[in-house]
Amino acid sequence: MKIAFAASEVVPFAKTGGLADVSGALPVELEKLGHDVKVFMPKYYSVDEHKFNLEYQSWASPMPIRVAGKVFDVNLYKSYLRDSSVEIYFIDCPYFFHRHNLYTNDLDEDQRFICFSKSVIEALQRLHWSPDIIHCNDWQTGLIPLYIKDNYSWDKMFANTSTVFTVHNIGYQGKFSPQTLFNAEISEDLFYHGGRIEQDGLVNFLKTGLSFADVINTVSETYAKELMTPEYSAGMHHLLKYREKDFYGIINGVDYDVWNPETDKLIPYNYSKDDLSGKEKNKEELLKKFNMPYQKDIPLIGIVSRLAIQKGFDLIQSALGELMQFNAQWIILGSGEQKYENMFQALHEQMPRKVGTYIGYNNDLAHLIEAGADIFLMPSHYEPCGLNQIYSLKYGTVPVVRKTGGLADTVQDWNEYNTYGMDTGNGFSFVEYKPEALVNAIQQALFDYPNKPVWKKIQLNGMNKDYSWKHSALQYEELYKKAKLKR
Ligand code: ADP
Ligand code: GLC
Repeated sequence: MKIAFAASEVVPFAKTGGLADVSGALPVELEKLGHDVKVFMPKYYSVDEHKFNLEYQSWASPMPIRVAGKVFDVNLYKSYLRDSSVEIYFIDCPYFFHRHNLYTNDLDEDQRFICFSKSVIEALQRLHWSPDIIHCNDWQTGLIPLYIKDNYSWDKMFANTSTVFTVHNIGYQGKFSPQTLFNAEISEDLFYHGGRIEQDGLVNFLKTGLSFADVINTVSETYAKELMTPEYSAGMHHLLKYREKDFYGIINGVDYDVWNPETDKLIPYNYSKDDLSGKEKNKEELLKKFNMPYQKDIPLIGIVSRLAIQKGFDLIQSALGELMQFNAQWIILGSGEQKYENMFQALHEQMPRKVGTYIGYNNDLAHLIEAGADIFLMPSHYEPCGLNQIYSLKYGTVPVVRKTGGLADTVQDWNEYNTYGMDTGNGFSFVEYKPEALVNAIQQALFDYPNKPVWKKIQLNGMNKDYSWKHSALQYEELYKKAKLKR
């Protein structure tokens, strides 16, 4: 199949979270299955032309793209995804994409991704490359399925093109005032209360994607079920119920070329399940980086995260008193909401030997925390898939998580008795979104930590798990076949 994959972030070019990891890995895996894949992303200010060997596509540039009644000159650049012949095309429009951050609260945020979505389609036209599938990801690409079925339906090259829309996070929907109808050239007839585009009086890009794509999915089976409920759906449950037959859950895979303690170049000591001694040395290194004392037998709890409410930091905040009583050390890497940045910064200042805090984005440190921590904490309020807990399993870093979404699908509770002697658990989890439940789950982990044979068993259960992309890519292949049958 010919598959065009559109996403607003792709590793290693630009990343704020797991979407970039998925977009950098799934297309390569699809190519290995024999598909012809081309990826499209915006060319942000941070995408370095020289470092990544971007080639200017003079034959296609500039493309005149109309947004909000004005015509912008959009250039096309090309490179390749790591170790593959998957082409990645960069949509270059400095006026829209050279901003401080990938995503903004600027007044023209709608226009930025209208420009991207139209440019993807017009680049396909210039490439004379008629895809079987356009795989769209999150709200930034939500207009593409509508455009293919409406604005660009005149073009016969898309007559057999089906669209797939993947929800990576329902919490971000791209909601804009009705002025956006004009900016995006969406027919006003399509905008009515309770319709396929409107939500609460606003133009909703995510809803548009969910409504117009031939097939839709999210990134774990449990999250797919949760999204059918008002509690988790952020207003989309009626629509998702209506589209239930076309709605699937596929767990993300992991790129073990990047996240593997045996080969990871970003950690000082490689190690494997046959010899975990390197892990302890990484812990020493990690603590040294934060000027924290290394004491054998004191467990180290790690966090690597966007500091957003989604990730359960309000629970941590409510439980801080009890959590800081535990005989454990903490290292936190993250950036995001100011109040959580302040909270972790203050903890570090009050207890520099106990809590290490790094506010910011640091990929090398993310790897070192995965390798050096004993326990990885992810008490998410909701978690579509979550990648860090899957990385943690591979690094023998025992996850403590809230049982929701992809966390519920990947972390099995350690409880020798419940599993009738099967000893299959690889972590600890809690269900109720309450500080007591969080404290209790951490307490259980800390209780088992000194029991070396038990702890090693939990680690090995995780390290033996295989979440490589191949399995998930095969499920996407099936999804694409279903989408094709819809056209
Ligand atoms: P989400 O996409 O919701 O942020 P995931 O667990 O799917 O959550 O993916 C997060 C990804 O972003 C992981 O690869 C993680 O290592 C990375 N990450 C998050 N915060 C940081 C940070 N401050 N520095 C480096 N990497 C980070
Ligand atoms: C989102 C989700 C996260 C998921 C990632 C990749 O940002 O919050 O759970 O792993 O997308 O699908």
